[in-house]
This record gives sequence, structure tokens and C-alpha cells, in this order.
Amino acid sequence: MQKIHFKAPNCWINDPNGFIWYQGQYHLFYQCFPYAPQWGRMHWGHAVSKDLVNWEEKGIALYPTKTDDRSGCFSGSAVEQDGTMYLYYTGVNYLEEDPENINHCRNDQFLSAQMMISSADGMTFDNLQEKKTIIPTIAEDKIGSKTHTRDPKVWRGTDAWYMVLGSSVAHKGRLLIYQSRDLQNWKYLSHVEKDNFGWMWECPDYFEVDGKGITVFSPMAFLNDGKAYDSAAICLFSTFDEATGTMQLADDVQFLDYGLDLYAPQSTTDEDGNRVVIAWMRMPQAVDGKWNGMMCIPRVVSVKNDRIYFRPHPHIQNAFTKEISSPEQAGKSGYLVKTSLKNGECINIGGYRIWREQDKLFTDRSAVFVKDGKYRLTAETPVLRDGCELEIYVDSNLIEVYANQGEAVISSVVYGLSEVVTGEAYTLYTTE
Ligand code: FRU
Repeated sequence: MQKIHFKAPNCWINDPNGFIWYQGQYHLFYQCFPYAPQWGRMHWGHAVSKDLVNWEEKGIALYPTKTDDRSGCFSGSAVEQDGTMYLYYTGVNYLEEDPENINHCRNDQFLSAQMMISSADGMTFDNLQEKKTIIPTIAEDKIGSKTHTRDPKVWRGTDAWYMVLGSSVAHKGRLLIYQSRDLQNWKYLSHVEKDNFGWMWECPDYFEVDGKGITVFSPMAFLNDGKAYDSAAICLFSTFDEATGTMQLADDVQFLDYGLDLYAPQSTTDEDGNRVVIAWMRMPQAVDGKWNGMMCIPRVVSVKNDRIYFRPHPHIQNAFTKEISSPEQAGKSGYLVKTSLKNGECINIGGYRIWREQDKLFTDRSAVFVKDGKYRLTAETPVLRDGCELEIYVDSNLIEVYANQGEAVISSVVYGLSEVVTGEAYTLYTTE
């Protein structure tokens, strides 16, 4: 059973959406197909939490109900203004339906429009009256694709609201930037793109941490090494200039997670003002034939020595205080392993192998994963600067390995872990 991670409630989930601290609790919406553990016509599921550790399911918040979103409510974000919650998302409209096909789309021809719905309490959403199209399907194909423009992320600037959208022009990914003074009327400002970064940039995000701008997105087909299902979510230092409405992206790329199962991250500020990010963990197959899709541990973002760090949110770290001598005492999953590896040393967590070599960290999940040849079995970090202190959060279907307080993270979806841990020296913790 998943103990640490938010998982699909007996259906399919993918991207986190509308992640926000609002009226004293966290709201996490998510892409959801409620009828089967596979991707289909998208809805927004909804869960709430007081602490980012324990989540309460609230059922479906957004349904496809309008012309512009009749084929699905795709990803988006939330903001709060004067006590009202505003959700921004992409409405998808298939030009030709095929009801026999699980995703209902006959030929990949669809239109995308950006939509908004508001809610006075963050719990009830009027899917029939309140939805509005705020940015119609893009008509000028020099600006963006009428099909592949999606995933609005909205943030409050100095004296205006800003939105970033993922898009594609001439088979090249780009970000579109918009501005609004009233959250309803949006003006196109500019775009930013880069060579050799995939053909479409999904789920963009922009925020500032420790005075540095950071842009995050999930480029499609960025990893051209033949591994069809690898998921890359990347982050780059960036500057966003409100005066000119333009964004500059630095050249150096960091992966949010070197396990490459993590995709479509989304951030918000927590109740203490930390920037916290959560993301979808892509799974090759459903668990018990019932559910498919998990979220990673919410991670706090910080910047140290020109590097972006991702650490488990303190609420999660603080939950693991009870030292145990074997995974069985934690009920076989839902435990934390602390260890430190020298070059050449290895730890084996229930069949998942982790080792250090030439100051890099490597993992191998061959023994605890499906063998369909499509997904990556091994992963590695760049060279680590600060030794190799590891915090490894182990759940029955997901292991997250944090090196050196978040200098690099490798998270891997796994199936069929055993409860045996072996290695040189390690300690195990569970929650009280
Ligand atoms: C990313 C994504 C988004 C889209 C959503 C559809 O995983 O493809 O770009 O909005 O999923 O479910």
C-alpha cells in the first residue's frame, strides 16, 4: 500500500493542477480519468490536506461540459484573490469524435482554448455557468499552435497577473507569456524558445526563489535516445522582466529528478512562504489492475552555489522520527533510509540497487520493474559536489532518493519490492 505518496483513487491520474494553499489548507487538483486506470477524457480530481502528508479526497471538481472543454479539462493552475479561488485550465475540443476509442479522439485533430472557473470556497465549482473561455484558440500560427497550446500557470507580479503557456511552432517548443490586470482579460506579451529542446513544452512554471528566477517545463521528445517513455522535467535559471514582458532562459539545464519518471511538476508557496513543487510519477502499468499514477513527495526548492535544490517538504521529513530495525516494523513500506556511500559502495532496498561510483549516484530497478523494454531501468546523477549523503523514502510503488540535502534526486516507480535492505551502514525510520 502507498503510505507516503498521493496516489490515484482507483482510476487514472496524471499532472498535478491548481496546487495552492487556500483558506487554511492545501488544495491539490489533478488530471483524472475517473472511469478506468488509463488516460481518457480528462477531468480534474480534487484532494485537500492540512500538512502535505495526509490527503482527503474530494472527488471530481471539473467535468468536460462546455463546447471548448467538451473533450477534456487539461492541466492548469490556481490563484487566490480577495478570498476567491480562480482555476485556469486548458479546454480541449476534438474535431472528430471516436467514442470507441478510450480517448475519444479519431485523428489527433483538436482545438485548445484557455479557460477559467472561480469558486467562493474552493470546494464547489459551477461547471455549467461559471466556466469562461479567457484565451480563445490561437488563430495566428506564428504565435502558437491552435492544437498544442496548453497548461496555463498564473502568478501575481508586481502590479499585474502573468500567465505562461506551453506551445509549439514549427515543431519547436516555446512558452507564451500573457498579462492581465483583472484575472479575466488577458493580453499576449511575448514568447521564448530554445533550439533542441523538444517539439512541445508542457506544463510550464515560473517562480522566484532566493531572488533567482526559475523556469520549469516538461519538453516533449527532449531525450532523443530511443527511450520512448522517459519523462523529462527540467529547470533553468531565468529572468522575467515585467517592464518589457519578456523572459530569458539560461543555457544550463537541471533535471528536477534524474530518475526520469517524474513529469509535469507544479509549484506553489506553502504556508511559510517556501516554494514547494509536486509532480506526477508516470507508471507503466496499473497496480492491482485498479489505479495508475502517483504524485512525488512535495519538495521545497532552494538555490545554493548556483544550483537548484529539491528537498522533501519539512512536514514530510518531520513525520519520520521513529527509528526501526527492519522495514517490517513499518509494515514493509512507508519508511525512510538514511545512509552515506563511499565510491564503490552499494545499498540494496528490496531489490532496488543504489551505488556510488566516480562521485555519481547510480540506481538500477531491473529486479523490481516491468520488463517491456520501453522504460529506463537505470539512472544516474551528474557528479555530486558534496559527498553522497542519502535520504531514501521507500513506498511500495515509489522510491525517492535525495542526495546531499537535495543536490540531486532520483525517484523511481517500482513493482514488487521485497522487505530486505542490505548495505554497509544505514538507519531506518518510520512515522509514529
Ligand atoms: C502533461 C499533459 C499536459 C496536458 C495533460 C493532459 O502530462 O500532456 O500537457 O494538459 O497532460 O492530461
